[in-house]
Formats: sequence, C-alpha cells, structure tokens
Amino acid sequence: MDIISVRDIDKKIFNEIFETAGEMERQLKSGRVEKLDGVVATLFFEPSTRTKLSFQSATVRLGLRYIDFISELSSVKKGESFADTIRMVDGYCDIIVMRHKYEGAARYAAEIAKASIINGGDGGNQHPTQTMLDLYTMLKEKGAIKGLNVRMMGDLKHARTMHSLIYALAMFGANISITAPHGLEMPEEGIKEIEKKFNIKINIEEEPDFSSDDVLYVTRIQQERFADPLEAKRIMEKFRITKDALKNAKKDMIIMHPLPRVNEIDVAIDKTPHAKYFEQAKNGIPVRMALIKYILEGEHA
Ligand code: NCD
Repeated sequence: MDIISVRDIDKKIFNEIFETAGEMERQLKSGRVEKLDGVVATLFFEPSTRTKLSFQSATVRLGLRYIDFISELSSVKKGESFADTIRMVDGYCDIIVMRHKYEGAARYAAEIAKASIINGGDGGNQHPTQTMLDLYTMLKEKGAIKGLNVRMMGDLKHARTMHSLIYALAMFGANISITAPHGLEMPEEGIKEIEKKFNIKINIEEEPDFSSDDVLYVTRIQQERFADPLEAKRIMEKFRITKDALKNAKKDMIIMHPLPRVNEIDVAIDKTPHAKYFEQAKNGIPVRMALIKYILEGEHA
C-alpha cells in the first residue's frame, strides 16, 4: 500500500489511523508499546525537520529500524538517477518515506518500488501525512471536524500542506474559508473540483474576519517555489499575524501551522491559548506510528 495523495485515502482509512493513533498515545504514556519488525528508509531530497525526524522517531518507538539517506552525500552526487536510487533502496527496506521537489515524484517511485511509498511532500502538490496529523489535532482539540469553521491562510498557491488539507477538510464536512496574499491564491481548478465533488462552497475572503473561526490554519510563504525570490521577500514582510489582529477571534479559536514558522505568526502568539502548532507537530509521532502499523500489518501491505 502506498500513501501518495489524500485523494487515495477515504474517510474509513483516516478514521482507522486516528483510532490507532489514540491507542499509540496511550501505549506511549504507559511506556509499553507493542513492537513490530521491519525497516523504514527515509529518503529526503528536499529539506525537512519534522517529517523526517518524526517518521524516524515513530519507527524507533515501534521497535523498527530506519535507514537514512542524505541526497548531498549519496550517489545522486555521482549522477545516479532517481529511478535507480529508488530501485536500490527498495531492496533495503519495507517502507520508503520520501520527499522530492518534483510533483509526481512519489507516484513515480511507487510505480518502481515494491516497498510501500509514503509521500512526505512532492513539490507544491501533496503532503498527505501532514493532513493526517492536522485532522487528528483538530479532532483532539475540537471533538469533530464536521461543521468546524476552518480558515486556511497563507501561501495557498504553493503550499502542498494546504492542497492536501483542503480536500480532506471538505471530505469531512468542515466549513472552509481561504485567505491568501495577492498572487498566492489557491489554484481555481482545485477549488472547483473540491466544491463539485463534495457539494460545498468554499468561502474566499481577501480580508479575513476571524470572528467565527474555530481553527485558523496558517502556512508560510513558500519562498523556494518562487521564480523571483525578491517577490517572496516582499510578501513575507507584509504577511504577519499579530495578537492585535486576533482581537475579534473566539477565545477558544486554535491556531495551527505545519511549521516551520518564519515570519507569519508573531512569537507573542505562542504564549496565548490559541497557539497549538507545537502540540500539532508532536501529534506527528502517534499518527505516523499508526500509519506505519497500518501499512505493515494490513492486508494492503
Ligand atoms: C511543510 C512542508 O514541508 O510542506 N513542513 C512540514 O512538513 N511540516 C510546510 C512548509 O514547509 O511550509
């Protein structure tokens, strides 16, 4: 079984992962985690802190082992192709967690490899395991996703986290509002596809009104995906959420962010009860443990 796009994951699979993640949290707390056997390879051709380390940590906590790959120190430097690299690593492990700057790279790897491929991000396209931990965090914090007012704000054009999340939020029946700096709007065909598929209306707001939001999900300006880095810098200087901007927000509105945070959330917000992004990142462990277990134990393996 491969995890490439949220479009391949139905509600039943999501819910099974959430349930197991809850069980994983309980096992972690009790100090007795049921052990599994196998090898996970982490193949990141693009920078990563959370996704790679949390997959490695989840692997170790399950009693599995991981092997790591650093693109700059690998035979990629000698000119080995992506396809050959995947072919090789396929023989060394049971699961490959990978990230690549090209959209479609994970899908291509899945065609080559027998091992399960988990997409840890392919360009501006998809980041399905981030969505799993995002939804899990919303469930933990708010009890349900259906009917939740979620605002997605930031670089909606380039952020793969947002492209995955919006689809899954629609599938689970959230009320979605989107706000992006000018020029970084969510691609229109993506919005139309989701509205049609789930028979919903996505609320597009240039100037955000936070007053009815239950969740404010922020993402950074994805400067590495800009043709002109100066343009990214200009937007980054202006796009910033401060405590002041949240004056009308509900007291129990939570702020989420896939991290890394650069300039878009004032650090003063970190100390407010709104800030949930560090807890969110921590939820990556039980969720990724649950996913690894699901892949290794299921008939779908
Ligand atoms: C995100 C990513 O790589 O897409 N990071 C992550 O995995 N938590 C978000 C980002 O880089 O902005």
